[in-house]
Amino acid sequence: MTASASYFNRHIFFCLNERAEGQASCSRHGAQAAFEHCKASVSKAGLSGKGQVRVNKAGCLDRCAGAPVAVVYPEAVWYTYVDQSDIDEIVESHLKNGQVVERLRLADDVGR
Ligand code: FES
Repeated sequence: MTASASYFNRHIFFCLNERAEGQASCSRHGAQAAFEHCKASVSKAGLSGKGQVRVNKAGCLDRCAGAPVAVVYPEAVWYTYVDQSDIDEIVESHLKNGQVVERLRLADDVGR
């Protein structure tokens, strides 16, 4: 049996979770809008579909203190972002060209 290529080359998962009032959570920091913007940007760039990039919703990723967060696989690179231009940079640099956006990386010790 020969190894087959992954169906998708990369996934980006956006936490869209909302936690109780007073607790950090991604939905209170623009995660839904960022997810939708990313989906549209990936599609516009011609990167969606088999062998390319899949943009997915996720529940809590347990790193809420860094909200809003997203993670890209297979590299397992975690990001935190502020606005749509940050998302554009992740799409262009990482999802399209495989270059990690160092300035948006989530610190390793950020948890819930
Ligand atoms: S609410 Fe987003 S990581 Fe927990």
